[in-house]
Amino acid sequence: MKSQRLRLGVNIDHVATIRNARGGAMPDPVRAAQAAARAGADGITAHLREDRRHISDADIERLSREIDLPLNFEMAATPEMLEIALKAKPHAACIVPEKREERTTEGGLDARGQHNQLAPIVAELADNGSRVSLFIEADRAQLDAAVSLGAPVVELHTGRYCDLHAAGDLSAAASELTRIRDAARYGASLGLEVHAGHGLAFETVADIAAIPELAELNIGHFLIGEAIFVGLEAAIAEMRQHMTLGRARAA
Ligand code: PXP
Repeated sequence: MKSQRLRLGVNIDHVATIRNARGGAMPDPVRAAQAAARAGADGITAHLREDRRHISDADIERLSREIDLPLNFEMAATPEMLEIALKAKPHAACIVPEKREERTTEGGLDARGQHNQLAPIVAELADNGSRVSLFIEADRAQLDAAVSLGAPVVELHTGRYCDLHAAGDLSAAASELTRIRDAARYGASLGLEVHAGHGLAFETVADIAAIPELAELNIGHFLIGEAIFVGLEAAIAEMRQHMTLGRARAA
């Protein structure tokens, strides 16, 4: 297939993690979103967790009000988050699984097993004007489930691929990359817009960007860490270069 432009959504959660380590207002995630916009990000992603460990309700209000880029609101499928999303009317709502004790979003959503719980939430968000996305594992059954739920977008979980790569298990990483590639192709054949994210870094992003069916990557933790050394705008610019090099392979 002809590859399309690959969008970059910058996740600013961990600017809020650092702020919350001390309380107070600094560093400000909205300022990070402004820097991301200057660096050419296509969107801002923020996850309002049930325990509010990083992004706060006030951050979501300010991001909606003060940032011109589209906001991708990551949320658990709970009545509380649905109410907030319906009020904030973000450009996109990405439904993620959430466990209180996890350090980060560990696995994909069980779109198949939770059909009845998810269906009304997907419908309400879509009726309210948000582009609904489901964060799932690279698995055909989950992609089929996304279609039957009427979600127009899925985001494939790249965390396992990145962990295997970081651990130096390159043959397992290659198998996982193949699984993600196959899922992206299958998802696009079903008419889904396919995104990917979680754990991506300079070393891993090009192989993911080379998958022609992918339309968007969402990247956070690595960029915020790298920003400590080179600044956020430079980190984003370098990530974009790796994405562009990877995407050129898909042509
Ligand atoms: N996509 C989704 C759905 C996520 O939950 C996260 C983490 O909040 C990311 C992308 C970004 O992952 P990372 O911070 O590891 O780049």
